[in-house]
Parts: sequence; C-alpha cells; structure tokens
Amino acid sequence: MAEQEIQKIGDKLLSIRGFVFPENYEDILTPQSMDRLGTFQIRDDDVFVVTFPKSGTVWTQRILTLLYEDEFPEAVDQTSYDRMPWLEFPQKGEEHTTRRSPRLFCSHLPEQLIPRGLQGKGKIIYVMRNPKDIMVSYFHFTHYMKSLKPSETYNEVMEKFLNGRMIGGCWFNHIKGWYTNQDKYNILFLSYEEMIRDLRGAVVKICQFLGKNLSDEVIDRVVKETSFNNMKKDPKANYAFLPNDVADSGKGAFLRKGTVGDWKNSLTVAQNEHFDRVYQERMKDLQLDFVWDVTDLLHT
Ligand code: A3P
Repeated sequence: MAEQEIQKIGDKLLSIRGFVFPENYEDILTPQSMDRLGTFQIRDDDVFVVTFPKSGTVWTQRILTLLYEDEFPEAVDQTSYDRMPWLEFPQKGEEHTTRRSPRLFCSHLPEQLIPRGLQGKGKIIYVMRNPKDIMVSYFHFTHYMKSLKPSETYNEVMEKFLNGRMIGGCWFNHIKGWYTNQDKYNILFLSYEEMIRDLRGAVVKICQFLGKNLSDEVIDRVVKETSFNNMKKDPKANYAFLPNDVADSGKGAFLRKGTVGDWKNSLTVAQNEHFDRVYQERMKDLQLDFVWDVTDLLHT
C-alpha cells in the first residue's frame, strides 16, 4: 500500500522516500504528490535554490528575489516567501503551474525526488554549509518552530542529525546525492561559508550563472540588503511574518547568529570527536572541504 511509504519517525516528523518533513504537512506530502513532483513540468527559465535545512536557504532566497526584482516590479512589497515559494510545501490555494515566468523556487528535496525535468532544463543553485553549524542552527530552530519537538541537549540533536531524523532527512545522503549527480543538472554549488567571506563575490557568481547582467549599483544594493543585519530588520526577508501558532518569536528567529563555527560554542570536545568519527566514516567516499571555523575564512 502506498500509504505505508510514509513512516512516523517520532518528534512530530514523517518520512517518505528518504525525505523527512513535519507532520502538519501529512495531507500535502503523500506518495501521490511525490509522484506528481517527480513529473512536475520544468520551464527553461525556472530557477531553484536547493539546500539541506539550515544551510542558508532564506539568505539565498532573498538574494534571488532581489536579483529578479526588475522582472516583478508588482511584487516589490511581497515577502521572499511569497515570491520564491517552496516547491514541495505549497501554501493553501497556491498553484505553481499558473505562475508567470521566470519562476523561482526553494526546495529541500534530495536529488532522487526533485522533478526529473530539471535534468536538461532550468537552473539550480545548491547551497551547502558545514554540517556542525547546520546541526547547531537546527537545535535552536527546533525551539523556535512550534511544529517541531525541541531538542533538549546537543547529544540529542546530534543523534538525530547523524541518523537523519530531522527535517530534510539525512544530511550525508542529501549532499552526496546532489554532489555526485551534478552532471545531470545545470547547477551551481555555493557554500554558506563563501557567502560569509565574500558576499559580493557570491552574488556576482550567481549573476554569471543565471546570465544576469546587472549594473554594479544593483549588485551593491543586493549585497547591502542581504547583509545579516539588514535582512534581520527587513520584514519582507526575515520570516518574522510567520504567525504565532507557527513560530515562537520569544524563543528564536530565522536569522539567529549568521556566522561560521558557532558549533565551537556549543559542542563539548567529546561530542565534537564523536561527530568527527561519524563524519569521517560517512564521507570517506566524497572529499569535500568545508570551512569549519570563522578564522579559517582568512586562509581560503
Ligand atoms: P544560524 O542559526 O547559524 O544563525 P536556513 O535559511 O537554511 O534555515 O538557514 C538559516 C541559517 O542561515 C541561520 O543560521 C541564519 O542565521 C543564517 N542566515 C540567514 N540569513 C543570513 C544572512 N543574511 N547572513 C548570514 N547568515 C544568514
């Protein structure tokens, strides 16, 4: 039975075909809707930002919406969420097929579940981040989002992260799936850490990838508006628009610290060593160089 494909994995989370999502989406993410996503019609000018959660999604989403502002002047007052919705988490009444081009999408889907039409059409920007910072960011996120069960300790969140029991599923599978299948797609890999080190350089790289020839003034404005401090103040970008029954603003924010190496303030030596052991084992077939500490940014 198709419904058996959906498993309850605890912590108010469900799992389907390797993708983990909050229970409150159980009517939206079904085996049938996942099949439909697989055959979702892609247009040549579709642009996707794909990430594992807590890797810099809303940051890249904001950059993209600003880069496309000239094509959607009527949408200038919309939030980035409205202008660049999630493929797999449609809001009530939202219909991607009737949207005007160029369509911008966010997605947390693993490679094996993304629309197959993206092989040969459309563009993908995949943002990766060092997984220790993802894990710490997610720890705080579980306290902020009411649909999630808060992790009480870093041991608890680490056990969940390393076993794929968090939104998105297994980080190791996500990064490996996307990285090793990159030849199938028109894809740009960016890292959160390079965006921190040189935001302007990252924005220029994105423009080149998208074939967007914007003036230095426009690029400067995008860089300024997407700095951590400016985005945190910007109600269209900071997700403070989430209603109280969804997010608890007393317990956090989407824009929290916005730095590299915050895991050092949170993990004990023993926890870090345990993480490293599992990381070495699981990543031995994929050599990726992450920047783990803010001071290392100076040397990359
Ligand atoms: P921290 O919790 O480490 O601060 P996502 O959007 O994928 O959920 O990722 C959220 C993370 O991106 C958070 O990390 C958040 O602070 C960070 N972030 C969002 N906007 C940012 C910006 N403009 N500059 C730096 N980091 C940003």
